[in-house]
Amino acid sequence: MNIKIAPSILSADFAKLSEEVALLERCGADLIHCDVMDGNFVPPITFGAQTVGAIRPHTRLPLDCHLMTLHPETYIEDFVKAGADIISVHVEACGEKTPAVLRTIQSRGVKACAVINPETRAEALFPAMEIADMILVMSVHPGYAGQKFIVDALDKIRTLRAHAVKIGRIALDIEVDGGITEGNVKEVISAGANVIVAGSAIFSSPDREATISRLRG
Ligand code: DX5
Ligand code: ZN
Repeated sequence: MNIKIAPSILSADFAKLSEEVALLERCGADLIHCDVMDGNFVPPITFGAQTVGAIRPHTRLPLDCHLMTLHPETYIEDFVKAGADIISVHVEACGEKTPAVLRTIQSRGVKACAVINPETRAEALFPAMEIADMILVMSVHPGYAGQKFIVDALDKIRTLRAHAVKIGRIALDIEVDGGITEGNVKEVISAGANVIVAGSAIFSSPDREATISRLRG
């Protein structure tokens, strides 16, 4: 499958976001991963739709908005208007309404993604996989950049890729987020993921272009 690299701007210089996203595009990124945190679903507060709208004119890359918020359905309209291309919502926040929330996102012409935290079983994504444009497996506890990759995520990715094949969604995008480095990305891809989020690995690199290219494998 085509491997896509999604740098997380959580590790960017927030005073220079327009320059940061433009630079990531020049360095070969495929998506811009925007970590939205509300201070409730996760302890930190980062930014919301206003910031996504502010960076929108500075890159042609799709904006991949990962909503780590309670009641994510209440923010869909704001992110659509801000120019989001993908909106990801957590199963832990939407519960059994997850498929309905994904449909609402898709009805606004935006790709819809369902996410699970490390403590949630892979099977919790099965209902969403019938309709989602992408699914996302957290490989760290959401909230902070720079954490260590949780190895259990690999088994979940294998389970989810096998289920995607079983239900005829062979090309379903499976994104993985947290603790991915040049050292473990091969395992993540071999397990069946094809969209790789990386924050610290890219922003701590003296040569972002080379790092993005090496992460792609
Ligand atoms: C964690 C965020 C991630 C994180 C990734 O809550 O969802 O996107 O910023 O950062 P690294 O790659 O540093 O783990
Ligand atoms: Zn994220």
